[in-house]
Amino acid sequence: MCGIVGYVGHRQALDVVLGGLHRLEYRGYDSAGVAVLDGAGALRVQRKAGRLANLEAQLDADGRQSFAGTAGMGHTRWATHGPPVDRNSHPHRDAAETVAVVHNGIIENFAELRAELEADGVELTSDTDTETAAHLIARVYATGDTAGDLEASVRTVCRRLEGAFTLVVTHADVPDKVVAARRSSPLVVGVGEGEHFVASDVAAFIEHTREAVELGQDQVVVITREGYEVTDFMGEPAQGKPFTVDWDLSAAEKGGHEYFMLKEIEEQPDALANTLRGHFHNGRITLDEQRLADQDLRDIDKVFVVACGSAYHSGLVAKYAIEHWCRLPVEVELASEFRYRDPVLDRDTLVVAVSQSGETMDTLEAVRHAREQKARVLAVCNTNGAQIPRESDAVLYTHAGPEIGVASTKAFLAQIAANYLVGLALAQARGTKYPDEVAREFADLASTPAAVQKTLATAAQVRALGREIADSKAVLFLGRHVGYPVALEGALKLKELAYMHAEGFAAGELKHGPIALIEQDLPVVVVMPSPKGRAVLHSKLVSNISEIQARGARTIVIAEEGDDAVRPYADSLIEIPATSTLLQPLVATVPLQILAAEIARSRGYDIDKPRNLAKSVTVE
Ligand code: M6R
Repeated sequence: MCGIVGYVGHRQALDVVLGGLHRLEYRGYDSAGVAVLDGAGALRVQRKAGRLANLEAQLDADGRQSFAGTAGMGHTRWATHGPPVDRNSHPHRDAAETVAVVHNGIIENFAELRAELEADGVELTSDTDTETAAHLIARVYATGDTAGDLEASVRTVCRRLEGAFTLVVTHADVPDKVVAARRSSPLVVGVGEGEHFVASDVAAFIEHTREAVELGQDQVVVITREGYEVTDFMGEPAQGKPFTVDWDLSAAEKGGHEYFMLKEIEEQPDALANTLRGHFHNGRITLDEQRLADQDLRDIDKVFVVACGSAYHSGLVAKYAIEHWCRLPVEVELASEFRYRDPVLDRDTLVVAVSQSGETMDTLEAVRHAREQKARVLAVCNTNGAQIPRESDAVLYTHAGPEIGVASTKAFLAQIAANYLVGLALAQARGTKYPDEVAREFADLASTPAAVQKTLATAAQVRALGREIADSKAVLFLGRHVGYPVALEGALKLKELAYMHAEGFAAGELKHGPIALIEQDLPVVVVMPSPKGRAVLHSKLVSNISEIQARGARTIVIAEEGDDAVRPYADSLIEIPATSTLLQPLVATVPLQILAAEIARSRGYDIDKPRNLAKSVTVE
């Protein structure tokens, strides 16, 4: 939540910072703001509630030339403390307006800090936790051993802060540097020629450099035009972890599409292929990082998958494969609930934490809880070096590329594929599958990019259908077996993008209550299992559809090509390529993504930035 960017170099900071904010707006879009150091002791700040476009209009009205300067920073907000109004927008300043701070995360002891400042006569002008940091830094900078030393002042204040935070700080007296600090919230440094960047995500500076440095926990970095210097919160020299970003600017741009989400739906074949690439070598499945012995994998006697939202649905799909291939019990748990119910964990438990961003706080806390109980943790993540993989014993990266649309699409498909690789790695280590069986399953997985590509050809039909049902009050989604999590994912997409009431059900449950919801013309989307692969389930679902059709529902059926038995019960039939049972979610999800996007578009919504949401949720 919240995107932050800082810059010192040879370009106009305002341009660089606004460019970065455009690429970080997916992280939050309740307000935006910038601060520029003009080099002559003035700190120019502007901030506006609403989208970045509002801030840009205000900057135009102010005259952008008044923001000239080669050091600065910016912020795009997902509101936590106080409503999204101008006065709560970042940057926040001290009373003398010499220090400016932007912040991602939550300062948990802010009430106590606020009370302390107010007792000292400081008048706070916002409802935010962030403003306390600005006043504290200004106070520490003005006095004692740290007087005139911005980085030392930031370190001193960071030691007092509780919670998760990334801070970027500037001071009018220090026009040639920007200081940033992190604890449990992302921060990367961008290393350019005569210019340096700090940001929540490399997307903010990918236009200028692909050389980056990932900062560790409780570290402070100072960037100048010439270089960067990292210390810990005590001031001891520390090291970041340099890496080169393996994607380029085009991956973070719309490439002619109206929305990122539409582009990301089309990128799914590549996302799958890239996720699978390199993970089957010399007849063996390999992970990206493994700080566990093979014997540890052999000793595993129970698996938990912990995740949120779409990532959780990918875990529900994985359960079918891991139990089937590894003969291990698998529980799939919402990360936000996991640590609050005292799950039974020990050294022989494998906790698979699935997260696109790698910074979702609910999932991170679940990982920490699991590790405290001595469980082994394996992360499935799309973001190189994010906090969740850093705190895990093994990592498998989904190489889906940057996902900018708030609704997960290509990352979700890549998570399913990666979870399957985890299942195969476990089956291989534990010997529950012979090497030739593992090879066959991998080859089957490797056929999915082509199947997804073929499924994309249903887009025009699905979009037309979306327009037809765009005015419906609600939509229900039904599935069975691996089709059930697909139904849940279809409903989630529709809720978050089109703000429509949507529910996913296991079709067999319908008769136990939800069938009461069926009324004339209610669209019901049904994900059919294969008539060959799951014949018994198929015939039961045909009966379920006939029951709802008899009660007036409008049936929209996603079925394998050639599934003639279901045709009479489908008011609309969307045909997807035949796959093996476990791989069907990878194709069946695609029409549901397209349907939700088109319904949202017909209703006039911004499908990349649905209301109230943010891409990465770094608060509990
Ligand atoms: O970054 P993560 O995968 O941990 O995010 C988890 C969820 O917040 C995410 O999948 C969310 O549900 C998406 N908006 C769904 O489209």
